[in-house]
Amino acid sequence: MIGEQSIYHHSYTFSFFLVFLVLILFRPAFSTYINTLSFKESLTISSNRTLVSPGNVFELGFFKTNSRWYLGIWYKKVSNRTYVWVANRDNPLSKSIGTLKISNINLVLLDHCNKSVWSTNLTRGNERSSTVMAELLTNGNFVMRDSNNKDASGYLWQSFDYPTDTLLPGMKLGYDLKTERNRFLTSWRSSDDPSSGNTTYKIDTRRGMPEFILNQGPYEMQRSGPWNGMEFSGIPEVQGLNYMVYNYTESREEITYSFHMTNQSIHSRLMVSDYTLNRFTWIPPSSAWSMFWRIPTDGCDFLHFCGSYSYCDLNTSPNCNCIRGFVPKNRQRWDLRDGSEGCVRTTRLSCSGDGFLRLKNMNLPDTKTATVDRTIDVKRCEERCLSDCNCTSFATADVRNGGLGCVIWTGELVEMRKYAVGGQDLYVRLNTADQG
Ligand SMILES: *[C@@H]1O[C@H](CO)[C@@H](O)[C@H](O)[C@H]1NC(C)=O
Ligand SMILES: *[C@@H]1O[C@H](CO)[C@@H](O)[C@H](O)[C@H]1NC(C)=O
Ligand SMILES: *[C@@H]1O[C@H](CO)[C@@H](O)[C@H](O)[C@H]1NC(C)=O
Ligand SMILES: *[C@@H]1O[C@H](CO)[C@@H](O)[C@H](O)[C@H]1NC(C)=O
Ligand SMILES: *[C@@H]1O[C@H](CO)[C@@H](O)[C@H](O)[C@H]1NC(C)=O
Ligand SMILES: *[C@@H]1O[C@H](CO)[C@@H](O)[C@H](O)[C@H]1NC(C)=O
Ligand SMILES: *[C@@H]1O[C@H](CO)[C@@H](O)[C@H](O)[C@H]1NC(C)=O
Ligand SMILES: *[C@@H]1O[C@H](CO)[C@@H](O)[C@H](O)[C@H]1NC(C)=O
Repeated sequence: MIGEQSIYHHSYTFSFFLVFLVLILFRPAFSTYINTLSFKESLTISSNRTLVSPGNVFELGFFKTNSRWYLGIWYKKVSNRTYVWVANRDNPLSKSIGTLKISNINLVLLDHCNKSVWSTNLTRGNERSSTVMAELLTNGNFVMRDSNNKDASGYLWQSFDYPTDTLLPGMKLGYDLKTERNRFLTSWRSSDDPSSGNTTYKIDTRRGMPEFILNQGPYEMQRSGPWNGMEFSGIPEVQGLNYMVYNYTESREEITYSFHMTNQSIHSRLMVSDYTLNRFTWIPPSSAWSMFWRIPTDGCDFLHFCGSYSYCDLNTSPNCNCIRGFVPKNRQRWDLRDGSEGCVRTTRLSCSGDGFLRLKNMNLPDTKTATVDRTIDVKRCEERCLSDCNCTSFATADVRNGGLGCVIWTGELVEMRKYAVGGQDLYVRLNTADQG
């Protein structure tokens, strides 16, 4: 019985071997691209070899700019080279000698002295190095995995976790709460220098509600406002496009933003460059990228343009407006169209007999002084605000289905803007003398 089984097993193995041999011998005829790098292979500058993603969209290899060499990923079919990822952005190769290979369980990039200039820096797990391989996936993600495990959750490392300046479809921007990694975009220093620039686009979870911030060095330039269940009012994505959807997820595992193409022949990417975040889209048969939107979009996007208790509105002149019940803090400068000092209350809050003014289509004030309770509705939210003498304003946390959840501000209201469309209602507390 045992003998029969083992004979059967051997012939099975033998035919498997034949098929394997045929595949190896005729491999060039079967596939026009190679998207994997195995344990024994390497990519070098001199060989001029690249990896190409299935579908022929992305290409990974060495490139030279500003007389230095980098390992990166770009769009294969776009004639104007568009880089989406750079491995060694802050540690370039100065000579045209470089090698990418798998060493133990890490991807390493070696320079002309065989010194590592970049590595995936993994510490040894259970993997055997002989089965570790790297692969450029259809979506442009460069992953390292065990060759026996194709499951995304089993990736040992992936370039999507280390963004450069570009967010691709399927890539997540924001926190992975399990690894505590915050994935954010950092601009190139200049158009021919991939080293880290001064502009970043990053989620901030230390506020009352998470929001995306466009930073220039240490300075905040633009805020997305919190997710209101439907959108970030300060990210001009368009709902209802027939080729793209986007997704914000807040859970125990992650606080992330991503987008996906529903029509695979259209390409789109988010990119930070000096002072701006841009969405570029490329719709065939056009052969060039077109800018879909950019932030800051206009003067009202700049934080601190209008000071506290005032809001920016493009449709008024001047753009800064005191909330009703407030007057300019510095009338002289206000009249010179400098609204940056903001406004002050005309009548103090009485604590017991106050009411609320509704402002529509607002990007909410900075939530640094706000607290959130997602379990109560607007009515209870209003009561809670009235019962706290320090409460200056409230809004619903999720605008869907008539509103759920409660955001309460107890400090100054800063960095507000009013949109022509979009945004949400904000209720500002006023003394009854200032209502009407
Ligand atoms: C490398 O390949 C590219 C395109 O595949 C070609 O344009 C270039 O001349 C090649 N460079 C060398 C040094 O072979
Ligand atoms: C780098 O390593 C390769 C392979 O191990 C070897 O052939 C080459 O001579 C080394 N180069 C230097 C400069 O050490
Ligand atoms: C790997 O570690 C080195 C030294 O700590 C560090 O400079 C480098 O940025 C790390 N590389 C990555 C990809 O995190
Ligand atoms: C980035 O900021 C530093 C310090 O403010 C400045 O010296 C440098 O020129 C800036 N770089 C760019 C590309 O703007
Ligand atoms: C949004 O992303 C989360 C987390 O990645 C995922 O579970 C969910 O299915 C996505 N939703 C949509 C509509 O794509
Ligand atoms: C996808 O987009 C292309 C280019 O605009 C268009 O020709 C094609 O009809 C679209 N496909 C679908 C299924 O909408
Ligand atoms: C290619 O890039 C250059 C420089 O960035 C730009 O001027 C040109 O318009 C681009 N061409 C296309 C077809 O996008
Ligand atoms: C209101 O604010 C004051 C001063 O900031 C603080 O001392 C007080 O505890 C606050 N009251 C409540 C109910 O939070």
